[in-house]
Amino acid sequence: MSHHAIATAAAAHTNNKHLIRWVEKMADLCQPEHIHWVDGSQHEYDLLCGKLVKAGTFLKLNEALWPGCFYARSAPNDVARVEDRTFICSLSKDNAGPTNNWENPFVMRKKLKALFRGSMRGRTMYVLPYSMGPVGSPMSQIGVQLTDSPYVVVNMRIMARIGTPVYGEIDKGEKRVVPCMHTVGAPLSPGQKDVAWPCNDEKYIVHFPETREIWSYGSGYGGNALLGKKCFALRIASNIARDEGWMAEHMLILGVESPDGEKTYVAAAFPSACGKTNFSMLIPPEGFDGWKVWTVGDDIAWIKPDANGKLRAINPEAGFFGVAPGTSANTNPNAMETLARNTIFTNVALTPDGGVWWEGMTDEPPAECLDWRGERWTPLIGRVSGRPAAHPNGRFTAPASQCPSIDSAWEDPSGVPISAIIFGGRRPTTMPLVYQAFNWSSGVYIGATMGSETTAAAGGAIGKVRRDPMAMLPFCGYHMGDYFRHWLRMQRNLTTTPRVFHVNWFRKDKEGNFLWPGYAQNMRVLKWIVDRVRGRALSKETPIGWTPLYEDIEWKGLDFSHAAFDELQNVDRAQWKQEVMGHEELFLALHDHLPAEMIYERELLICRL
Ligand code: OXD
Ligand code: MN
Repeated sequence: MSHHAIATAAAAHTNNKHLIRWVEKMADLCQPEHIHWVDGSQHEYDLLCGKLVKAGTFLKLNEALWPGCFYARSAPNDVARVEDRTFICSLSKDNAGPTNNWENPFVMRKKLKALFRGSMRGRTMYVLPYSMGPVGSPMSQIGVQLTDSPYVVVNMRIMARIGTPVYGEIDKGEKRVVPCMHTVGAPLSPGQKDVAWPCNDEKYIVHFPETREIWSYGSGYGGNALLGKKCFALRIASNIARDEGWMAEHMLILGVESPDGEKTYVAAAFPSACGKTNFSMLIPPEGFDGWKVWTVGDDIAWIKPDANGKLRAINPEAGFFGVAPGTSANTNPNAMETLARNTIFTNVALTPDGGVWWEGMTDEPPAECLDWRGERWTPLIGRVSGRPAAHPNGRFTAPASQCPSIDSAWEDPSGVPISAIIFGGRRPTTMPLVYQAFNWSSGVYIGATMGSETTAAAGGAIGKVRRDPMAMLPFCGYHMGDYFRHWLRMQRNLTTTPRVFHVNWFRKDKEGNFLWPGYAQNMRVLKWIVDRVRGRALSKETPIGWTPLYEDIEWKGLDFSHAAFDELQNVDRAQWKQEVMGHEELFLALHDHLPAEMIYERELLICRL
């Protein structure tokens, strides 16, 4: 494609010479057959979905049951984020730290150039401008993704703000644009028939933190391919945030409204499979008349001190890319309403009436369906083969605006004020239901040492704690020790420091039964957190932090005994000594970048125990 033709087509969308020159250069490298400048319109979305249906990537679901919804199955070798193929290519290996894969950026660039050369042959290259965060917000960031996947374009239209308004932002020239290269790595020779889900066995998800670039090769799925999400909003943004004095975190944001209209926003970081989406859309249980929980975001928070030294947060995303299995009218009615229309389903089961199903959606599975591989599935086949109908990482891509609990301020360009930060994990033992950190640095210690225990369901050793600091282990784009230091330093710019809490919905008794009912009942914990923040609730000092007394929790509507609560909140000194030993493991790996505060906090904790 000639540069003249590219510039002519570009003129209808942007006058930014850098953008146009980059597109020309990348087109020379990838050699696509066509270039499509994405405008983000409904008309264009419909057109691309039609094209995906024709290609066999999409199936239109039954319009009467699932209006505006599409169904996709990925290739079986392209179903999840590929952490072992994810690289942070900082100039120095030391800056990536021991928790990231690293490759020399010059070596990696050479490798990528070779892989991308001719990689889009026979395909269309989409120029996809996107804004993470509301267009024009001072807290938003801009990227342009060049991709040969129309599936990615339509998913990104749900997950981010894309198209014409973003060209407008780029043309203003005020914000640095993050270039994002993406190819599924499956060029077509003339006349070659395409497959429904093109991808490549070889995959590379590469970040260059200094030049703020992302290059993704070989995958069309989720966080590997929707580059605004994990690659930009966490790995690259964590680098930008460190340099500029803010925070890019793997956190949900929610607002708690009391019956008299007082609103308190909190952000919460849990590792995957710990119920982040459910918590962000919680519906208060019986006994909480007049209380409401409002959703700002379910996965990522960008948090920045405002002029008054208070932290404010935006959700940089515009949609939910949620795990489908386990989502139901019981566990998360708000999510079920959100995904009822205009949603893209990937790797779930297809029912004979043109609908979708996944494990946990209903008590009764359908008598028959096609599984995520497209093979016939019945409950019997499932039992015998041990194969679920939906892939455990099957997803829905749904617009946040459709969520019944979406907060009125979710698109506020200046964000919402954050009064508390909550860390949590899946811990069958040791960790009480809730406790509050003594102060900011002990809160940072709690986040830095948080973990989630592996369960029998996931295989491997039971009760083994995997450390996942701030739930950022796969997402921090630089050295984890420096990340802890950045957290500690943030306090210097704050006049009001958010209170820090740790929660655990998953503690079990000796027989292996959960001690806490979870889900909507988590509202009782949330209310105590809000009351603490507002200076209304009492608490008890323990060696690990402040914990609620039985009387401090609202029990109306739930029969929960004092004795059961004491078991749930118990701080067992012997278990905690074990726990602190586990912290040592992580700290050893990070030792040469570990802030002294982490050592002191650990020593203080040991002394108190
Ligand atoms: C996600 C993840 O997809 O954390 O949100 O893996
Ligand atoms: Mn996530």
